[in-house]
Amino acid sequence: MVKICCIGAGYVGGPTMAVIALKCPSIEVVVVDISKSRIAAWNSDKLPIYEPGLDEVVKKCRGKNLFFSTEVEKHVYEADIVFVSVNTPTKTRGLGAGKAADLTYWENAARMIADVSKSDKIVVEKSTVPVKTAEAIEKIMTHNAKGIKFQILSNPEFLAEGTAIQDLFNPDRVLIGGRETPEGEKAIQTLKNVYSQWIPEGKILTTNLWSAELSKLAANAFLAQRISSVNALSSLCEATGANVNQVSYAVGTDTRIGPKFLNASVGFGGSCFQKDILNLVYICECNGLPEVAEYWKQVIKINDYQKSRFVNRVVASMFNTVSNKKIAILGFAFKKDTGDTRETPAIDVCKGLLGDKARVSIFDPQVTEDQIQRDLWMNKFDWDHPIHLQPTSTPSNEKNVSVVWDAYEATKDADGVCILTEWDEFKKLDYQKIYDNMRKPAFVFDGRNVVDCDKLREIGFIVYSIGKPLDPWLKDMPAVA
Ligand code: NAD
Ligand code: UDX
Repeated sequence: MVKICCIGAGYVGGPTMAVIALKCPSIEVVVVDISKSRIAAWNSDKLPIYEPGLDEVVKKCRGKNLFFSTEVEKHVYEADIVFVSVNTPTKTRGLGAGKAADLTYWENAARMIADVSKSDKIVVEKSTVPVKTAEAIEKIMTHNAKGIKFQILSNPEFLAEGTAIQDLFNPDRVLIGGRETPEGEKAIQTLKNVYSQWIPEGKILTTNLWSAELSKLAANAFLAQRISSVNALSSLCEATGANVNQVSYAVGTDTRIGPKFLNASVGFGGSCFQKDILNLVYICECNGLPEVAEYWKQVIKINDYQKSRFVNRVVASMFNTVSNKKIAILGFAFKKDTGDTRETPAIDVCKGLLGDKARVSIFDPQVTEDQIQRDLWMNKFDWDHPIHLQPTSTPSNEKNVSVVWDAYEATKDADGVCILTEWDEFKKLDYQKIYDNMRKPAFVFDGRNVVDCDKLREIGFIVYSIGKPLDPWLKDMPAVA
């Protein structure tokens, strides 16, 4: 029986290993983590992450061929294949701070694997890492290996949160990069044999190590670039009377472009896009390619512009001040069907409104009050560095934030409503009831284009929806970003 150990029981390690266990009953899979609370949650009825379909998969395999444990060294020692799926956040200090990937967690994991191993192993990079990381990891491991042989493979993960299980069951492709040597090819084949239990041969792509590592950064940069492109156009739509939904539909029907990832929004969030593009920018700079770095940097700049543009629109529409006004925030997660708030645009929007002294009342069906409060006082980039998760200061405006468990409660007596996550339930709210309980004039600022603008205008709302033709009211109150 092949034994797999995965270091890191997070959003990637947990679901990916659960699906491998489900699809490969003859493989024993152990997911290990240094976080005792995370492992305890994986072993409980309330899993540490919310992901549609995940509970069922875990219930089917846990205790049979899927285990979660904090005994990291023991399970690494026993494994034939070790996946490393630890966090690779943006560096917050030192060389490359604010751009480069912090590989501390990865390096610690690599040194530990070399230390405890007594047999040859395949080590799989599952985390997203800078191109050429495998070379550094190989060096660390071979210098500490005491004669044991390691084959490093790059097997980046392309799942998206909210659809992780569906993506893992039926991925567009699985990418495996390895050394172009007989040992490297043998290792690639071993990993291929795992995936081929449920994925058609043609969808398993094999490349050299550097192509696999770079493809992951490139894919995320391309996806984010599409969103920044459509978001940039959304501001031009507002200025000209074009409708961004009609524009992206017309553009996306060109088969060379395709319809996906063209939804205008308040900005992209999530733990990957910004981090991976910053990393790409840093790598370009280090390789003497400043023009290329500048090109990709623009994707982030437009995303920041989109978030501040949204805040400015809210403030400008409400007579240029939101001081002491109650603003309801519907949705805090970075997208629907997840409780994840990493880099969610809601953080910047709330901070912007709080900066103008608004009182915000936040409702998200999956995000806890604790998480929201932490997100609003934490420094940029600190969220993914569990070791120094200490507040540098408590915000003076903490009293202006309330978190409630109901959209009607959040919007009661509010002056404005901001929709920041596209949860399906926000489409079905009783907006007449919401309008009746708000102060007038009542505003809706839809950062996800989920509401029916005409219906809401009939009720009496003043409605702003990203990239859609503006209400006459909003034309008279122009927002400058
Ligand atoms: P995460 O923070 O949810 O999980 C990482 C886990 O690794 C944490 O639980 C942490 O405690 C653990 N860890 C860190 N160092 C450890 C060590 N030495 N030993 C044992 N455990 C250790 O992160 P994630 O979202 O699962 O992302 C992991 C990697 O996958 C990142 O590189 C990310 O860029 C990449 N990725 C993420 C997604 C996504 O949707 N979240 C998708 C594709 C790729
Ligand atoms: C992303 C990649 O899609 C995935 O392949 C990679 O493995 C990890 O990073 P994720 O961040 O989980 O996945 O979600 P994704 O669906 O890509 O959405 C990212 C952000 O873009 C969200 O905030 C989402 O709301 C936003 N988005 C997405 C848009 O604003 N418009 C779109 O058209 C699509």
